[in-house]
Amino acid sequence: MSAAEYVPDTVSLSRLRSAAVDCRGCALYRDATQTVFGAGERGARVMLVGEQPGDREDVEGEPFVGPAGRLLGRALDEAGLDRAGIYLTNVVKHFKFRRAERGKRRIHQKPSRTEVLACRPWLSAELAAVRPGLVVLLGATAAQAVLGTDFRVTRERGRLVPLPEEPGTPRALATVHPSSILRAEDRESAYQAFRADLITAANAVA
Ligand code: URA
Ligand code: SF4
Repeated sequence: MSAAEYVPDTVSLSRLRSAAVDCRGCALYRDATQTVFGAGERGARVMLVGEQPGDREDVEGEPFVGPAGRLLGRALDEAGLDRAGIYLTNVVKHFKFRRAERGKRRIHQKPSRTEVLACRPWLSAELAAVRPGLVVLLGATAAQAVLGTDFRVTRERGRLVPLPEEPGTPRALATVHPSSILRAEDRESAYQAFRADLITAANAVA
């Protein structure tokens, strides 16, 4: 299982995006509505990487347009990170879910390590195309996909670390996923800590 054979050898985001429509690199395309590719422009200073599209994103075809995205948008504004200079994407490009026993509600399921690895070539292609100054990893799935499975967000959040592809240069920063804030017992302090991490990110590219 891998997306590799579907990823064209190009740094054109529009060519990558249109090729991703037809990706069959793992089984997740089957039940999802559509591929949700990254949004933003080449040369964005910051790339934000989430886990996978949620229910709203699956329907609309754009990353971070649901409740977690709204919270993220507010935190970015408050941290002074201009959305125009940001590229938003996910480690996995299709929504993984199960159906609630009753009713039609679709419940998010975490992608497996196999699915993360299968989809990883798309993120590598996005990194090569966008060439951001800093990659902000939202949550453990994104952090471990990029920084390795030994990485612990709880221990290392909010710190500038080198990207494995470019050792020596601090170019990544991991923090929690915005949806974890929506579930937190103390939402306000979880939100403040998240915002503080984004301020560190903003200062790193200022
Ligand atoms: N959560 C994510 O990780 N990505 C999205 O695009 C939306 C919610
Ligand atoms: Fe391809 Fe990724 Fe979708 Fe799997 S999740 S089909 S690898 S785009």
